[in-house]
Order: sequence, then structure tokens, then C-alpha cells
Amino acid sequence: SQRTLVLLKPDAVRRGLTGEIISRIERKADWRITALDMRTLDTGTLELHYGEHQGKPFYEPLVTFMSSGPVVAMIVEGERVVEGVRALAGPTDPIAAAPGSIRGDFGVIVRENLIHASDSEESAERELKIFFPGRD
Ligand code: GTP
Ligand code: MG
Repeated sequence: SQRTLVLLKPDAVRRGLTGEIISRIERKADWRITALDMRTLDTGTLELHYGEHQGKPFYEPLVTFMSSGPVVAMIVEGERVVEGVRALAGPTDPIAAAPGSIRGDFGVIVRENLIHASDSEESAERELKIFFPGRD
């Protein structure tokens, strides 16, 4: 089975949506949350995590937003969980995301799209080393 990194972004924490989102993930057959904590991310961690976006116009506001308050960081394990959490989340732009998805149900603003989930097994392993070192 697979592992993925999930971050419930500062907007999800501020709006009191973490329980709802965790519940959607937890209810999927076979999936397990194997690590979970609340933490405030520093710029260095976010530079590593979002390095692929450095230099893009949305990068600086993204880092400012992601460090603006606590996030909930999780490891989720299970069958096809990398693709599966991305499907639960919906597309990056919440307005393009279907109702029934997390972003489609709760989001409006592209930056404040509630949840991060690794986009491939390779990304998951890279990101898990950043957020949960020593958990391989
Ligand atoms: P993450 O799971 O957070 O990585 O989202 P994603 O994989 O759906 O999107 P991507 O990695 O391409 O972008 C990372 C984050 O940057 C997104 O979740 C958005 O919050 C933000 N972002 C991406 N593209 C744009 C954009 O065109 N405009 C703005 N304002 N923000 C963007
Ligand atoms: Mg991404």
C-alpha cells in the first residue's frame, strides 16, 4: 500500500473544518492515519516543500498564507491513497472543484484551498522526509 502527506491548511484550522476533513479521509475503507499533529510551519520548511513553485507570482503569498497559523500535518496510509486523497480534495481551484469534494464543498479562493496532498508516490516520499523525518 501507499503513504501520503496531508496538510490541513491554516484556513481549514481557522474555520473549524479539520474534524470534517479528517472524517472524510478516515471513513475511506482501508485507509489509516498513522501520524497527526498541529504545528505552525516556518519559511524554511515551506521553501523545501513548495520549492517547485519558487519564482512563480503566487509563491510569496502562498508561503505567507501557509505560515499564517497552525496546520494539521498527517501521514495517511492505505490502498491507492496518493491518488485517492487528491480525488477527495478536488482540483487546485475550488471553483473548478465538484461539489462533494473537499475544495468543492468548502473553498472559493485558489490560495485558501484547505488541504494539501502529495501529487505522486515520489512527491510523498520527498515531502514525508521534510514533515516527518525518521518515519521511514
Ligand atoms: P498543494 O496540494 O497545496 O500542492 O496544491 P496543488 O497540488 O493542488 O497545487 P500546486 O502544487 O500547483 O500549487 C500549490 C498551491 O499554490 C495551491 O494549493 C494553491 O494554494 C496555490 N496556487 C497554485 N496555483 C495558483 C495560482 O495560479 N494562483 C494562486 N493564487 N495560488 C495558486
Ligand atoms: Mg502540489
